[in-house]
Amino acid sequence: MGVKIKQENKTIIALGIETSCDETSVALINSNKEVLAHRVASQIKDHEIYGGVVPEIAARAHLSLLPGLLDQVFRDASLQPHDVDVIAATTGPGLIGGVVVGTMAAKAMAAALGKPFVAVNHLEGHALTARLTETIEFPFVLLLVSGGHCQTMLVENVGAYKVLGATLDDAVGECFDKVAKMLGLPYPGGPQIEKLAATGNPKAFVLPRPMIGQKHLNFSFSGLKTAVRQTIQKLQAEHGDTLPESIVADVCASFQQTVARVLYDRIKQAFLYTAEHHPNYKQFVVAGGVAANQHIRGALQTVCSEFGFAFFAPPLSLCTDNGAMIAWAGLERFQQGLTDSLDIKPRPRWPMDQIRGISS
Ligand code: KG4
Ligand code: ZN
Repeated sequence: MGVKIKQENKTIIALGIETSCDETSVALINSNKEVLAHRVASQIKDHEIYGGVVPEIAARAHLSLLPGLLDQVFRDASLQPHDVDVIAATTGPGLIGGVVVGTMAAKAMAAALGKPFVAVNHLEGHALTARLTETIEFPFVLLLVSGGHCQTMLVENVGAYKVLGATLDDAVGECFDKVAKMLGLPYPGGPQIEKLAATGNPKAFVLPRPMIGQKHLNFSFSGLKTAVRQTIQKLQAEHGDTLPESIVADVCASFQQTVARVLYDRIKQAFLYTAEHHPNYKQFVVAGGVAANQHIRGALQTVCSEFGFAFFAPPLSLCTDNGAMIAWAGLERFQQGLTDSLDIKPRPRWPMDQIRGISS
């Protein structure tokens, strides 16, 4: 009879650094899915007056904020840097100045501490976040809707993504931000529009629903954006440049409702496609900043229940950019043996189907 050796399951601790856009964020998490410390320093105030993110300002802000946040998370978790098992940072895609800051800090720590480094694709961070807070096995259908991205994909495993469809023009979050700007609302537009839409009439304005009913799985939002611009211009000709708040609320509600209907339709098409070609897919995850929108979540929950899919979304605080999602993706990759050399270069562009997986 062989001697049974009890395999000791060591708890792994991961440090994650996110600096790809306008949030500087650092987190410490462990393999028991515990968030040990998590700090997010938003730079919204620095960019607000410009109506969008200014890359050079963002890079400088990451540089000045990151050291303090790193100190803080170790204090919050009562841990020392050498307690960490793996160090992960967003290495792309994103604004290159910020990505360089986070990646270089992580590489420097990994080199100094003699710890493994994981170069995390920011989109993979969004894609895997729901697995930090929920029990979701692979595979699942993912809708990633953020400020820079809008795509549906099949998530087969860590590092194994098949893109089904993507936007041909604007990302959904970008469209929220541009419509908010047209209405004179501050950046970022998504939360502002959602708040005002709550008091508006979603049927006040009839807007186009790009691609609705079409069998392919791509998205388009520029036509909707143009229609909203024309609607606002007509209203301004009537009411003056500063529109009454009730009209702004009606525009917000009509726009948000249209986006929700379009996303409902695009996911319906994705489910019809998977039913035919990948019937083993029965779970759906929505991720990215726009996933924080309750109305959009509601529309996606409806399409999931109609097609027998389980619906998952990260908690609101983990929808927009954060360090916990990078720590988690880093931990998942580390557990699969997917660590990276310190030679890896920060990348402004990095499509998800080019992420290195277990077999590549
Ligand atoms: O994921 P994220 O923080 O950054 C990117 O990777 O792009 O997403 C930010 C985007 C912004 O465009 C913002 O307006 C949008 O997410 N957003 C929302 C909401 N909260 C954030 N859009 C609609 N409704 C929201 N509640
Ligand atoms: Zn993001």
